[in-house]
Amino acid sequence: MAAAPIYLDHQASTPCDPKVVAAMAPHWNEEFANPSSRSHLPGLAAAGQVEQAREVMAASFGVPPESMVFTSGATEANNLAIKGLCEARMARGRHLITVATEHRAVLDPCRYLEKMGFCLTVLPVEADGLLDPARLEAALQPDTVLVSVMAANNEIGVLQPLAAIGALCRSHGAAFHCDAAQLVGHQQLKPLQLGIDLLSCSGHKFYGPKGCGALVVADGIELAAQLHGGGQEGGRRSGSLSTPLVVGLAAALQFALFDASEREQRLGLLRDQLWRGLQQLGGMQLNGALQPRLAHNLNITVAGVNGTRLHSNLKKRLAVSGGSACSSATGEPSHVLLALGRSRLEAAASVRFGLGRSTTETQISATLEWFSQVLANLR
Ligand SMILES: Cc1ncc(COP(=O)(O)O)c(C=O)c1O
Repeated sequence: MAAAPIYLDHQASTPCDPKVVAAMAPHWNEEFANPSSRSHLPGLAAAGQVEQAREVMAASFGVPPESMVFTSGATEANNLAIKGLCEARMARGRHLITVATEHRAVLDPCRYLEKMGFCLTVLPVEADGLLDPARLEAALQPDTVLVSVMAANNEIGVLQPLAAIGALCRSHGAAFHCDAAQLVGHQQLKPLQLGIDLLSCSGHKFYGPKGCGALVVADGIELAAQLHGGGQEGGRRSGSLSTPLVVGLAAALQFALFDASEREQRLGLLRDQLWRGLQQLGGMQLNGALQPRLAHNLNITVAGVNGTRLHSNLKKRLAVSGGSACSSATGEPSHVLLALGRSRLEAAASVRFGLGRSTTETQISATLEWFSQVLANLR
């Protein structure tokens, strides 16, 4: 049997930490009651577990527990933040701003609002993938109700200047939503200190379960619910909460932050080793600034090769991607790389490496060896 490919796609998803799996275990079929069932003891016990998880998450973000809204992931959190805020503030203004390199779970709700009559500004990024705050300042208008800028890019890993963006939003009276799916669990994040009013995260990006995430909503930020029903989550997100997933989400955040700085240091060294080795093969272009960037991300364009052939060869031994997991289904070149000025052919011949907890030096050496063999065949 062929050996399993080396998994270097941790920005698409991370394995669930066994400690998190253990924390979730009793809540599937032993303590399974609906946390909304307040008429009996098992339901109250489940509600207690959910509230404990809420407190853990809230303490980590430095917000009160009422600020946490549990969702099915970052896609739902982004939709609730963007559509919910714009709908709630419609009478005040109908202009929103986002950035060309955002995840589709931000761009698509923004485009949906545009179809519904909102005015959308999509800001370009500089060649290094970063947003220049001066561009945002120039785009803010008196009727701008929302600015949505991600924390860390899911394809090129660059970290946007959140504090500067938050300060601009504050001074112009616009709400600031931040899709932090790729940063939460990898660095400590205090949204209020950065002027962030709405922050999205997703469990499976930080060694937690898939299908669970959260939206942090700053005090006083009004949101129109996007899921109507039983009125759970303070009426902001109806639907029975999954106790195991919520418990797993909070446990994952604690465990992920516990070794985050050690992981960042170790993976940064491995990533740099990978980058140095790739450069020695020649014809490699880095996508996005090397700093500020997630330590576990590398994204490169390989000159002079056909992207389809490159990826079909790489995948025999490596689990890497050409862009975001969500866009790989469409076969379209990455809109993030196009926004950096890469051509469609260059974008297709690009590779994202997402290192993670399980990545070893031996794996990085084997990756370089396979990459070198593939290139020797293709060039
Ligand atoms: C930046 C970003 N936002 C949103 C999402 C969507 O997250 P989820 O899978 O939790 O819906 C992802 C996942 O790919 C992401 O990387």
